[in-house]
Amino acid sequence: MGQHHHHIAANRILSADDLRKQFGYSQDTNTLLQDIAGESHKKLLSELAAIAQHQFLSPGKKGLVKGFFLFGPPGTGKTTLARRLTLELAERFAHEAGSQSVVMATIDGAEIARSRYGESEERILDIFAHARNGFTAQNQRSVVLFDDIESVFMSRDNQNAKEWHFSQDSVFFHAVDELDTSRSILILTSNRPDLVDAAILDRFLAYEVGTPDAETMCQIISSLVRSQAIGEADLEKIENATIDAYARGEIRSIRDAQKFILSCYVASILGQESRAYRPSRASTVP
Ligand SMILES: Nc1ncnc2c1ncn2[C@@H]1O[C@H](COP(=O)(O)OP(=O)(O)OP(=O)(O)O)[C@@H](O)[C@H]1O
Ligand SMILES: [Mg+2]
Repeated sequence: MGQHHHHIAANRILSADDLRKQFGYSQDTNTLLQDIAGESHKKLLSELAAIAQHQFLSPGKKGLVKGFFLFGPPGTGKTTLARRLTLELAERFAHEAGSQSVVMATIDGAEIARSRYGESEERILDIFAHARNGFTAQNQRSVVLFDDIESVFMSRDNQNAKEWHFSQDSVFFHAVDELDTSRSILILTSNRPDLVDAAILDRFLAYEVGTPDAETMCQIISSLVRSQAIGEADLEKIENATIDAYARGEIRSIRDAQKFILSCYVASILGQESRAYRPSRASTVP
Protein backbone atom coordinates (compact mmCIF):
# COMPACT_ATOMS: atom_id res chain seq x y z
CA MET A 1 0.00 0.00 0.00
CA GLY A 2 2.98 2.36 0.30
CA GLN A 3 2.78 5.60 2.20
CA HIS A 4 -0.98 6.06 2.48
CA HIS A 5 -1.57 8.87 0.07
CA HIS A 6 -2.52 7.40 -3.21
CA HIS A 7 -6.26 7.41 -2.63
CA ILE A 8 -7.06 10.89 -1.44
CA ALA A 9 -6.84 13.57 -4.09
CA ALA A 10 -5.52 16.93 -2.94
CA ASN A 11 -8.74 18.65 -4.03
CA ARG A 12 -10.60 16.64 -1.42
CA ILE A 13 -8.72 18.40 1.36
CA LEU A 14 -9.96 21.84 2.33
CA SER A 15 -7.68 24.07 4.38
CA ALA A 16 -8.89 26.80 6.68
CA ASP A 17 -8.04 29.31 3.96
CA ASP A 18 -10.13 27.45 1.40
CA LEU A 19 -13.03 27.51 3.83
CA ARG A 20 -12.57 31.19 4.67
CA LYS A 21 -12.85 31.93 0.98
CA GLN A 22 -16.04 29.88 0.68
CA PHE A 23 -17.71 31.81 3.50
CA GLY A 24 -16.58 35.19 2.20
CA TYR A 25 -14.08 36.08 4.89
CA SER A 26 -13.30 39.79 4.92
CA GLN A 27 -10.01 40.79 6.45
CA ASP A 28 -11.15 44.40 6.85
CA THR A 29 -14.06 43.58 9.11
CA ASN A 30 -12.79 40.19 10.32
CA THR A 31 -16.20 38.69 9.54
CA LEU A 32 -17.68 36.11 7.19
CA LEU A 33 -19.76 37.96 4.61
CA GLN A 34 -21.44 34.73 3.46
CA ASP A 35 -21.79 33.03 6.80
CA ILE A 36 -24.52 30.46 7.36
CA ALA A 37 -27.81 32.12 8.23
CA GLY A 38 -30.78 31.00 10.31
CA GLU A 39 -31.01 30.60 14.07
CA SER A 40 -31.42 26.83 13.98
CA HIS A 41 -28.36 26.34 11.77
CA LYS A 42 -26.29 28.62 13.99
CA LYS A 43 -27.39 26.84 17.15
CA LEU A 44 -26.57 23.50 15.61
CA LEU A 45 -23.15 24.78 14.59
CA SER A 46 -22.40 25.96 18.09
CA GLU A 47 -23.45 22.64 19.63
CA LEU A 48 -21.33 20.60 17.24
CA ALA A 49 -18.37 22.94 17.71
CA ALA A 50 -18.60 22.76 21.51
CA ILE A 51 -18.56 18.96 21.49
CA ALA A 52 -15.72 18.69 18.98
CA GLN A 53 -13.65 21.34 20.74
CA HIS A 54 -14.09 19.62 24.09
CA GLN A 55 -12.83 16.34 22.69
CA PHE A 56 -9.93 17.96 20.83
CA LEU A 57 -8.83 19.49 24.14
CA SER A 58 -9.24 16.31 26.15
CA PRO A 59 -6.11 14.35 27.00
CA GLY A 60 -7.84 11.03 26.23
CA LYS A 61 -7.91 9.69 22.70
CA LYS A 62 -11.07 7.67 23.17
CA GLY A 63 -13.83 10.25 23.46
CA LEU A 64 -17.39 8.95 23.43
CA VAL A 65 -18.42 11.02 20.44
CA LYS A 66 -16.87 9.69 17.24
CA GLY A 67 -18.86 12.05 15.13
CA PHE A 68 -22.15 13.42 13.90
CA PHE A 69 -24.73 12.01 11.53
CA LEU A 70 -26.54 14.83 9.73
CA PHE A 71 -29.65 13.74 7.89
CA GLY A 72 -32.37 15.56 6.03
CA PRO A 73 -33.79 16.33 2.57
CA PRO A 74 -31.56 17.52 -0.29
CA GLY A 75 -30.31 21.09 -0.22
CA THR A 76 -30.99 21.83 3.44
CA GLY A 77 -27.39 22.63 4.37
CA LYS A 78 -25.77 19.41 5.63
CA THR A 79 -22.55 19.65 3.66
CA THR A 80 -22.34 23.36 4.35
CA LEU A 81 -22.65 22.76 8.09
CA ALA A 82 -19.76 20.28 7.96
CA ARG A 83 -17.61 22.87 6.21
CA ARG A 84 -18.60 25.66 8.53
CA LEU A 85 -17.86 23.44 11.54
CA THR A 86 -14.38 22.78 10.22
CA LEU A 87 -13.77 26.49 9.79
CA GLU A 88 -15.06 27.13 13.30
CA LEU A 89 -12.65 24.56 14.73
CA ALA A 90 -9.80 25.91 12.62
CA GLU A 91 -10.44 29.37 14.13
CA ARG A 92 -10.66 28.02 17.66
CA PHE A 93 -7.41 26.09 17.24
CA ALA A 94 -5.61 28.71 15.18
CA HIS A 95 -3.26 29.41 18.10
CA GLU A 96 -1.81 25.92 17.76
CA ALA A 97 1.39 25.43 15.81
CA GLY A 98 0.86 25.83 12.08
CA SER A 99 -1.81 27.90 10.41
CA GLN A 100 -3.48 24.81 8.94
CA SER A 101 -4.40 23.39 12.31
CA VAL A 102 -7.70 21.81 11.23
CA VAL A 103 -8.47 20.60 7.71
CA MET A 104 -11.47 18.92 6.19
CA ALA A 105 -11.27 15.76 4.13
CA THR A 106 -14.32 14.97 2.01
CA ILE A 107 -15.04 11.38 1.16
CA ASP A 108 -17.69 10.88 -1.49
CA GLY A 109 -19.90 8.00 -0.34
CA ALA A 110 -20.99 7.11 -3.87
CA GLU A 111 -17.37 6.78 -4.92
CA ILE A 112 -16.58 4.32 -2.14
CA ALA A 113 -19.68 2.32 -2.97
CA ARG A 114 -18.61 2.09 -6.63
CA SER A 115 -15.17 0.71 -5.81
CA ARG A 116 -14.33 -2.88 -6.65
CA TYR A 117 -14.57 -5.59 -4.05
CA GLY A 118 -11.78 -5.18 -1.54
CA GLU A 119 -10.84 -1.75 -2.85
CA SER A 120 -13.41 0.13 -0.82
CA GLU A 121 -12.19 -1.50 2.40
CA GLU A 122 -8.66 -0.46 1.48
CA ARG A 123 -9.86 3.08 0.86
CA ILE A 124 -11.61 3.25 4.19
CA LEU A 125 -8.47 2.06 5.98
CA ASP A 126 -6.42 4.59 4.06
CA ILE A 127 -8.69 7.45 5.05
CA PHE A 128 -8.40 6.57 8.72
CA ALA A 129 -4.62 6.23 8.42
CA HIS A 130 -4.57 9.78 7.07
CA ALA A 131 -6.76 10.95 9.92
CA ARG A 132 -4.33 9.38 12.39
CA ASN A 133 -1.17 10.79 10.77
CA GLY A 134 -2.51 14.10 9.43
CA PHE A 135 -3.82 14.66 5.91
CA THR A 136 -1.36 17.29 4.69
CA ALA A 137 0.89 17.76 7.72
CA GLN A 138 2.07 15.76 10.71
CA ASN A 139 -0.24 15.65 13.73
CA GLN A 140 -2.84 17.70 11.93
CA ARG A 141 -6.37 17.84 13.29
CA SER A 142 -9.19 16.99 10.94
CA VAL A 143 -12.87 16.82 10.27
CA VAL A 144 -13.56 13.86 8.00
CA LEU A 145 -16.76 14.19 6.03
CA PHE A 146 -18.35 11.06 4.57
CA ASP A 147 -20.85 12.77 2.31
CA ASP A 148 -24.04 11.04 1.11
CA ILE A 149 -23.37 7.72 2.79
CA GLU A 150 -26.65 5.94 2.07
CA SER A 151 -25.11 3.87 -0.72
CA VAL A 152 -22.19 2.72 1.47
CA PHE A 153 -23.71 1.97 4.83
CA MET A 154 -26.89 0.30 3.77
CA SER A 155 -29.25 -1.16 6.23
CA ARG A 156 -28.90 -4.91 6.52
CA ASP A 157 -32.54 -5.42 5.70
CA ASN A 158 -32.26 -3.36 2.54
CA GLN A 159 -32.73 -5.53 -0.53
CA ASN A 160 -29.87 -3.87 -2.35
CA ALA A 161 -27.40 -4.42 0.45
CA LYS A 162 -24.90 -6.89 -0.87
CA GLU A 163 -22.64 -9.13 1.11
CA TRP A 164 -19.70 -6.85 0.52
CA HIS A 165 -21.45 -3.91 2.12
CA PHE A 166 -21.28 -5.82 5.39
CA SER A 167 -17.56 -6.19 4.97
CA GLN A 168 -17.23 -2.41 4.36
CA ASP A 169 -19.32 -1.78 7.42
CA SER A 170 -17.19 -3.90 9.69
CA VAL A 171 -13.97 -2.30 8.44
CA PHE A 172 -15.52 1.12 8.92
CA PHE A 173 -16.87 0.50 12.41
CA HIS A 174 -13.61 -1.01 13.60
CA ALA A 175 -11.76 2.08 12.36
CA VAL A 176 -14.35 4.34 14.01
CA ASP A 177 -13.82 2.61 17.33
CA GLU A 178 -10.07 3.19 17.00
CA LEU A 179 -10.44 6.87 16.01
CA ASP A 180 -8.30 9.33 17.97
CA THR A 181 -11.01 11.75 19.04
CA SER A 182 -8.49 14.26 20.33
CA ARG A 183 -7.45 14.85 16.70
CA SER A 184 -10.34 13.95 14.43
CA ILE A 185 -14.08 13.98 14.29
CA LEU A 186 -16.28 12.38 11.63
CA ILE A 187 -19.35 13.76 9.94
CA LEU A 188 -21.70 11.52 7.99
CA THR A 189 -24.50 12.94 5.87
CA SER A 190 -27.45 11.39 4.12
CA ASN A 191 -30.79 12.36 2.70
CA ARG A 192 -31.99 8.76 2.95
CA PRO A 193 -31.63 7.87 6.63
CA ASP A 194 -34.18 5.11 6.06
CA LEU A 195 -31.59 3.24 3.98
CA VAL A 196 -28.75 3.70 6.44
CA ASP A 197 -27.65 0.91 8.76
CA ALA A 198 -28.91 1.29 12.31
CA ALA A 199 -25.36 0.82 13.59
CA ILE A 200 -24.66 4.35 12.35
CA LEU A 201 -27.37 5.70 14.58
CA ASP A 202 -25.93 3.76 17.52
CA ARG A 203 -22.46 5.26 17.21
CA PHE A 204 -22.98 8.80 16.04
CA LEU A 205 -24.92 11.69 17.44
CA ALA A 206 -27.71 12.13 14.92
CA TYR A 207 -29.14 15.53 13.98
CA GLU A 208 -31.95 16.25 11.58
CA VAL A 209 -31.27 19.09 9.18
CA GLY A 210 -34.79 19.35 7.85
CA THR A 211 -36.75 21.84 5.80
CA PRO A 212 -36.13 25.10 7.65
CA ASP A 213 -39.04 26.37 9.75
CA ALA A 214 -40.65 29.63 8.70
CA GLU A 215 -38.54 31.87 10.89
CA THR A 216 -35.27 30.22 9.89
CA MET A 217 -36.29 30.26 6.24
CA CYS A 218 -37.05 33.98 6.36
CA GLN A 219 -33.67 34.68 7.91
CA ILE A 220 -31.92 32.58 5.28
CA ILE A 221 -33.90 34.10 2.40
CA SER A 222 -33.12 37.57 3.63
CA SER A 223 -29.44 36.80 3.89
CA LEU A 224 -29.35 35.14 0.45
CA VAL A 225 -31.13 38.07 -1.21
CA ARG A 226 -29.02 40.65 0.53
CA SER A 227 -25.76 39.01 -0.48
CA GLN A 228 -26.67 39.60 -4.14
CA ALA A 229 -25.85 42.76 -6.04
CA ILE A 230 -29.48 43.85 -6.30
CA GLY A 231 -30.81 47.37 -5.98
CA GLU A 232 -32.63 48.15 -2.73
CA ALA A 233 -36.03 48.50 -4.47
CA ASP A 234 -35.79 45.03 -6.00
CA LEU A 235 -34.33 43.51 -2.84
CA GLU A 236 -37.51 43.76 -0.89
CA LYS A 237 -39.66 42.65 -3.82
CA ILE A 238 -37.58 39.51 -4.33
CA GLU A 239 -37.44 38.81 -0.62
CA ASN A 240 -41.23 39.02 -0.32
CA ALA A 241 -41.82 36.96 -3.45
CA THR A 242 -39.54 34.23 -2.08
CA ILE A 243 -41.24 34.21 1.29
CA ASP A 244 -44.61 33.95 -0.48
CA ALA A 245 -43.33 31.00 -2.52
CA TYR A 246 -42.19 29.34 0.69
CA ALA A 247 -45.64 29.91 2.20
CA ARG A 248 -47.20 28.29 -0.89
CA GLY A 249 -45.02 25.23 -0.30
CA GLU A 250 -42.94 25.76 -3.45
CA ILE A 251 -39.70 26.06 -1.50
CA ARG A 252 -38.65 23.19 0.68
CA SER A 253 -34.93 23.66 0.97
CA ILE A 254 -32.27 26.33 0.93
CA ARG A 255 -31.31 25.20 -2.56
CA ASP A 256 -34.91 25.76 -3.71
CA ALA A 257 -34.76 29.26 -2.25
CA GLN A 258 -31.52 29.98 -4.09
CA LYS A 259 -33.06 28.84 -7.38
CA PHE A 260 -36.16 30.92 -6.82
CA ILE A 261 -34.13 34.02 -5.98
CA LEU A 262 -32.02 33.48 -9.07
CA SER A 263 -35.07 33.35 -11.30
CA CYS A 264 -36.48 36.52 -9.71
CA TYR A 265 -33.14 38.20 -10.20
CA VAL A 266 -32.96 37.27 -13.86
CA ALA A 267 -36.55 38.37 -14.37
CA SER A 268 -35.74 41.72 -12.81
CA ILE A 269 -32.82 42.20 -15.20
CA LEU A 270 -34.99 41.30 -18.17
CA GLY A 271 -38.11 43.09 -17.03
CA GLN A 272 -40.02 39.87 -17.79
CA GLU A 273 -40.02 36.17 -16.97
CA SER A 274 -36.86 34.42 -18.09
CA ARG A 275 -37.03 31.75 -20.78
CA ALA A 276 -34.65 29.58 -18.76
CA TYR A 277 -35.98 26.17 -17.85
CA ARG A 278 -37.65 26.13 -14.49
CA PRO A 279 -39.22 23.01 -13.05
CA SER A 280 -42.79 23.74 -12.12
CA ARG A 281 -42.43 22.11 -8.72
CA ALA A 282 -39.79 22.51 -6.09
CA SER A 283 -37.40 19.58 -5.84
CA THR A 284 -39.20 16.84 -4.02
CA VAL A 285 -38.07 14.73 -1.16
CA PRO A 286 -37.32 11.23 -2.41
N1 LIG B 1 -27.47 28.15 6.83
C1 LIG B 1 -27.35 28.52 5.56
N2 LIG B 1 -27.51 29.80 5.21
C2 LIG B 1 -27.41 30.19 3.91
N3 LIG B 1 -27.15 29.37 2.88
C3 LIG B 1 -26.97 28.08 3.17
C4 LIG B 1 -27.07 27.59 4.50
N4 LIG B 1 -26.87 26.25 4.47
C5 LIG B 1 -26.66 25.94 3.19
N5 LIG B 1 -26.72 27.01 2.40
C6 LIG B 1 -26.61 26.99 0.93
O1 LIG B 1 -27.63 26.11 0.46
C7 LIG B 1 -27.17 25.28 -0.60
C8 LIG B 1 -27.42 23.82 -0.25
O2 LIG B 1 -26.62 23.48 0.87
P1 LIG B 1 -25.87 22.07 1.01
O3 LIG B 1 -25.22 21.70 -0.28
O4 LIG B 1 -25.02 22.18 2.21
O5 LIG B 1 -27.09 21.10 1.28
P2 LIG B 1 -27.08 19.52 1.55
O6 LIG B 1 -28.04 19.30 2.65
O7 LIG B 1 -25.69 19.04 1.71
O8 LIG B 1 -27.70 18.97 0.19
P3 LIG B 1 -27.59 17.47 -0.44
O9 LIG B 1 -28.43 16.57 0.43
O10 LIG B 1 -28.19 17.61 -1.80
O11 LIG B 1 -26.15 17.10 -0.46
C9 LIG B 1 -25.70 25.63 -0.79
O12 LIG B 1 -25.58 26.47 -1.92
C10 LIG B 1 -25.31 26.37 0.47
O13 LIG B 1 -24.35 27.35 0.20
MG1 LIG C 1 -24.58 17.62 0.60
